[in-house]
Amino acid sequence: MRIDLFTGPRREIEWLFRQAEDSEARLRDYIDHGQVWVAVATDGEIVGHLQAVADPDGSRWEVLNTAVAEHQRGNGIGTRLLERAIQQARRAGARRIELATATADIGNLRFYQRCGFRMSHVIRDAFGPDTGYPEPTVIDGIPLRDQIWFDREL
Ligand SMILES: CC(C)(COP(=O)(O)OP(=O)(O)OC[C@H]1O[C@@H](n2cnc3c(N)ncnc32)[C@H](O)[C@@H]1OP(=O)(O)O)[C@@H](O)C(=O)NCCC(=O)NCCS
Repeated sequence: MRIDLFTGPRREIEWLFRQAEDSEARLRDYIDHGQVWVAVATDGEIVGHLQAVADPDGSRWEVLNTAVAEHQRGNGIGTRLLERAIQQARRAGARRIELATATADIGNLRFYQRCGFRMSHVIRDAFGPDTGYPEPTVIDGIPLRDQIWFDREL
């Protein structure tokens, strides 16, 4: 398994973005932003991705979307993708990397903290009809409603 910068059309790996984004409208807004790295299995199959975008002054990077194909989760691929983004952000001179997820997604809360991220703040009702999430969604038995931000100093 290797991590490569993805230079192809983002549409080709849209299915991966959708694993981490329930709003088609939101996804259309940001899918072409920033840089994307992909995890490529030895047979050439793309099994994960991470999209990150830098602030205009380059001091802060944000991970906009990341996912690993369901059959490959729990094998360290998500961690490797995050480590690559952190390495690139450091090399580019960034001082902080940030990302957000749903408070309902307990697995993600665990994953990001294990990767050295700290919680910074919660945005209530970030996910709802007004913000592009018209369908009520439940994750781990918890309604998808609030968003939590994480950051890691570099
Ligand atoms: C979150 C995600 C990218 C992590 O990738 P990964 O390759 O499974 O992560 P790693 O193998 O490096 O780390 C595994 C850890 O991730 C966490 N995790 C979160 N969701 C998980 C899942 N569905 N399966 C396995 N582990 C998961 C666990 O804490 C796990 O630790 P454990 O093995 O001790 O239980 C991946 O689970 C995923 O694609 N989830 C769906 C999309 C998503 O929610 N993306 C993030 C949006 S903010």
